[in-house]
Amino acid sequence: MNTDTFEPVIIGFTCNWCSYRAADLAGTARVKYPPNVRLIRMMCSGRLDPTFVLKAIAGGADGILITGCHPGECHYLEQNYKALRRFQLLRRTLAQMGIRPERLKLVWASAAEGVKLAEEITCFIEEIRALGPLDWPALTGERIPVASGFISAEEGGR
Ligand code: FES
Repeated sequence: MNTDTFEPVIIGFTCNWCSYRAADLAGTARVKYPPNVRLIRMMCSGRLDPTFVLKAIAGGADGILITGCHPGECHYLEQNYKALRRFQLLRRTLAQMGIRPERLKLVWASAAEGVKLAEEITCFIEEIRALGPLDWPALTGERIPVASGFISAEEGGR
């Protein structure tokens, strides 16, 4: 793949009560961010099963964004702390798999922070662009079982 024309594919898991609304607000306010991110709405960041992230990578994502309510503001009490712990665990897991942990990012954004979220998305896309394509499905090598499917692994940090 020509890295000059590389357009990262980013999957963004967003909380219904904050960051999804922030993204909506950004759109309403005509605050632009690149179209590279596909947002998936969850009722809470605590709903993020770690296999969602691995499946996104196995499906071809170059980067994964997790967003949720600020600490102390989760609508389901402390579920965003659970998301934070999973995020930290996933970053270590990705590193063990030879994937740069920077490909996974966590952002807290309230419903009023559309501009901030748009800036974070734009910044993340540029960080992933600089890392280059992950292209995990095209790799060969060790196969790692993930729930109902498999992902391939390779030595080295992509
Ligand atoms: Fe938003 Fe829990 S309700 S992170």
